[in-house]
Amino acid sequence: MDKLIINGGKKLKGEVSVSGSKNAALPIFVATILAGGKFEISNVPFLRDINTTIKVLESLGATIEGNGNIVKIDTTNVNNVEATYDLVKTMRASVLVLGPLLARHGRARVSLPGGCAIGARPIDQHLKGLKALGAEIRLEHGYVEATAKQLKGARINFDVPTVGGTEHLMMTAALAKGVTLLENAAREPEIVDLANMLNLMGAKIEGAGTDNIRIEGVEKLSAIDYRVMPDRIEAGTFMIAAAITGGDIKISNMQLEHLDALVFKMQDAGVEIINKDGFVRVKGPKKLKSINIKTRPYPGFPTDMQAQFMALMCLADGASVVAENIFENRFMHVSELLRFGADIMIDGRSATVKGVKKLSGAPVMATDLRASASLILAGLAAEGTTEITRIYHLDRGYESIEKKLAALGADIVRVKE
Ligand code: EPU
Repeated sequence: MDKLIINGGKKLKGEVSVSGSKNAALPIFVATILAGGKFEISNVPFLRDINTTIKVLESLGATIEGNGNIVKIDTTNVNNVEATYDLVKTMRASVLVLGPLLARHGRARVSLPGGCAIGARPIDQHLKGLKALGAEIRLEHGYVEATAKQLKGARINFDVPTVGGTEHLMMTAALAKGVTLLENAAREPEIVDLANMLNLMGAKIEGAGTDNIRIEGVEKLSAIDYRVMPDRIEAGTFMIAAAITGGDIKISNMQLEHLDALVFKMQDAGVEIINKDGFVRVKGPKKLKSINIKTRPYPGFPTDMQAQFMALMCLADGASVVAENIFENRFMHVSELLRFGADIMIDGRSATVKGVKKLSGAPVMATDLRASASLILAGLAAEGTTEITRIYHLDRGYESIEKKLAALGADIVRVKE
């Protein structure tokens, strides 16, 4: 197993380019099974979750070839309609194949994902939507078995705005007969990216990016080429890396407008952010101000940036309150941040972070993807050496992060244990 060793205290400088978005690429890969044919997907990040998605698609009968950040997917022979426990337990997003398989083949059998480190993460809203479209759903032996002769458009009102649920039903309804309305839909940019791809394939989707999405079902979709949007969470993580080290970096291949909630909070904390000439320049202040955040569905503050922002607040002047409203167990990084000398108290879904003068490097353990990122950030700012183990979590969602940070002047290496 690999680990990361960081010698902190280096101010980051230079330029870094953001990779393609993990959370956009995953549903985009799944959407290829809605049509039989040859797709070419570009700007694909090199990640463990992408490998898992490739395995899922291959298990369904797709043929896949990768060349750098371009992946060719041939879905002509997707004839298997079952996604096994082994694959779904490795990555929850695999469950998104259920509706598309059902829409194309009239039946599907997909393992029910179990719990997750950051929360229970049920899929009741996905299943409610599929039922509304006319699917018969049975839960047996840990699997969801779905059948439908012909899916029919319906009005679906989500109890909570769910990213995966919105993507799942948008894909499925694209091949249903008639019009589907998704109300209280999630509005994340990754949903817009998926809708753009589906529309290029021949779907008729309007309103993606708002909480009301209208989908007029079509009979058939076709294979296309598509470029995945940049990863806004990777970009946000670099922005905090600059801020926490008092550095000055330029970030390319990012869409700053996807990070408005983060940008406002970072500016309030004293960080300078300039969007000019195709780059986003981020300059850390001498002293950070403490700022409260509450995670919310997009366009609110992203839960996927909560752990990283908390690392930043550990070094701010004064106390800040970080409230996590999306997932019930997304504070696992707190006990690891304490090992750096941070001062944090959790009370239910809020954590009070009292800024300290300095963090000191320590051996810590990564517990989930974004928690791992927050430990790297703390390590970059801390005095002395930090050793982060269990970084397989990190490899799920950040492409070559240690190489990108090292190119910015960080002293960070990956070693085999
Ligand atoms: N929820 C339900 N029922 C459902 C679906 C969701 O109660 O049927 C609840 C969840 O338990 C959660 C809330 O709704 O409390 C939001 O969950 P959502 O469905 O939006 O999350 P997701 O689609 O499972 C995606 C990202 C996550 C990101 C969340 C929130 C992908 C592959 N994953 O998950 O990304 O945190 O949206 O923005 O897109 C990550 O990249 O580190 C990550 C965890």
